[in-house]
Amino acid sequence: MNLIDYPRWPSLARESILNVPMDLRNIRLNIDGKVIDYNGEIDSVVITGMGGSGVVGDIINDLCWFWDCRVPIIVSKNMRLPRRLSRPLVIAISYSGNTAETIMSANEALSRGYPVIGITTGGKLSAVLGSKGVPVVLIPKASAPRYGLPALLYPVLIILERFGVTSVANELESGIAGIENALKHVDDAVNLARQLVNSIPVVWVTESRRGVGIRFKNDLNENAKYYSVVSVVPEGAHNDIAAVTTKQVGLRHVAIMGPNDYEGGLYEEVLIDVVSSFGAKPIIIRLEGKTPLETEMYGVTYLGIVTLALAGLLGVEPVSTEPIDRLKNLLSERRVFQV
Ligand code: F6R
Repeated sequence: MNLIDYPRWPSLARESILNVPMDLRNIRLNIDGKVIDYNGEIDSVVITGMGGSGVVGDIINDLCWFWDCRVPIIVSKNMRLPRRLSRPLVIAISYSGNTAETIMSANEALSRGYPVIGITTGGKLSAVLGSKGVPVVLIPKASAPRYGLPALLYPVLIILERFGVTSVANELESGIAGIENALKHVDDAVNLARQLVNSIPVVWVTESRRGVGIRFKNDLNENAKYYSVVSVVPEGAHNDIAAVTTKQVGLRHVAIMGPNDYEGGLYEEVLIDVVSSFGAKPIIIRLEGKTPLETEMYGVTYLGIVTLALAGLLGVEPVSTEPIDRLKNLLSERRVFQV
């Protein structure tokens, strides 16, 4: 099976952190008369980005259910930043550097006088930020944004450490161990993919593993060109669950459970019993890992490989995502964004 860039994920993680500037906290910029001091106090971290880049924010949010994160993480997947931010650090992530929504958000952050850090392989984001002296972490390339996930994520972990948001240094290697462990489970992944054929997967996750669920859905969409739904509990247990009796389309319930999920596994076990009592046969995926990061990395890697296996079973070419390209081109042609 062609694992595309997955075997490179450990080295992508390691290489990407080498490019985080050492002197981040000493930066002081003057942009349009506003002084931006990277050494000042921050009271939130905004992670802005779309798709395979934006999912980094969801993953960090998951981790902050376990870690002692000092400020809230705000995940922004939009061309505007949330209003009423006080003293945020803004991390703008775009693998290509050409996603208009992310460039607009980064520009808005600078015009509001917030410290911004870009993470990208280059493109306009790097050019726009670089020309103003804004720090940019240049990361190694992959076959498509989603295949570069560790290179997008690991620099954010280092940045959080540098800004005193949380202490992650002694977990970094365990995250890589999670990737390596998942790479040993390719046969299981193929078996799981077989069970998803001819269905719409309904992916159940707890709030503290929301990022794993979203990433799985996105990989199903982009690698296997497969529709799926994510239901986050407890909320999904108050609405989505009512549709378990759906007969019009074949739903396949997939419950993802981490060893130490913040909410505890009991809630999801009850949910699985209820879903089963209506005749469904949920697939249960138990994530492996000793630390929160190890478990998260195991989850996103293993489930990503499942979606590559599904693409193979369906005879679908995994890398290209033509509808996304077409949308980006048309947005640019119709000048929807001023970037
Ligand atoms: C994933 C993918 C998309 C992009 C998204 C944003 O492989 O192709 O989800 O990540 O369109 O583009 P970037 O990441 O370049 O900002």
